Amino acid sequence: MNFETRMIPSMKNATYNHIVVAKDDDQIVGYAYSNISPKEAYSNEFATFFNLSSVSRKNVGCLSQFYIKEGYRQYGIGSILFNMSMKWLKQFDDVEDFFIFVSNGNQNALEFYKRKGFSISHDILDGFITVLRNNKESENIYS
Ligand SMILES: CC(C)(COP(=O)(O)OP(=O)(O)OC[C@H]1O[C@@H](n2cnc3c(N)ncnc32)[C@H](O)[C@@H]1OP(=O)(O)O)[C@@H](O)C(=O)NCCC(=O)NCCS
Repeated sequence: MNFETRMIPSMKNATYNHIVVAKDDDQIVGYAYSNISPKEAYSNEFATFFNLSSVSRKNVGCLSQFYIKEGYRQYGIGSILFNMSMKWLKQFDDVEDFFIFVSNGNQNALEFYKRKGFSISHDILDGFITVLRNNKESENIYS
């Protein structure tokens, strides 16, 4: 998974894309990429990421990529980018379901998202990916 195989297809399949970056002077030290996509984008030859019938609306929101450079973590930068991303995702009236896909073993990120109001839904790809989800109606700290 790299820029060509992951980022470009994600952006092309999405209806709306959003990136926020954190900068230290001119240097980018973190980013969060989110998108709004038709739910069908999450069922392809690679995997079915979630049960499409569990989503009532046509589109879903996803925090797709999220990275803070080492040395800049634990200062609250990730929380700011996360909150900005969720604020953007939640502005779409016709989107109720939000997803984050976390690689197996990334306990740190998993706990981070859980504290932000996401819940573990299920595993896919033989446990390689954990699917986290949240719903607009659920209570959370970034609303
Ligand atoms: C996950 C990730 C984006 C979080 O970014 P971050 O900038 O470290 O996040 P924050 O600083 O906002 O929060 C991290 C922790 O630091 C704590 N923190 C925030 N500000 C702090 C401060 N001033 N002093 C001490 N701790 C602080 C937060 O309370 C939080 O603790 P918690 O996780 O126990 O709630 C970052 O660790 C990362 O890039 N990881 C590698 C890539 C990755 O795994 N991405 C996710 C892919 S799904």
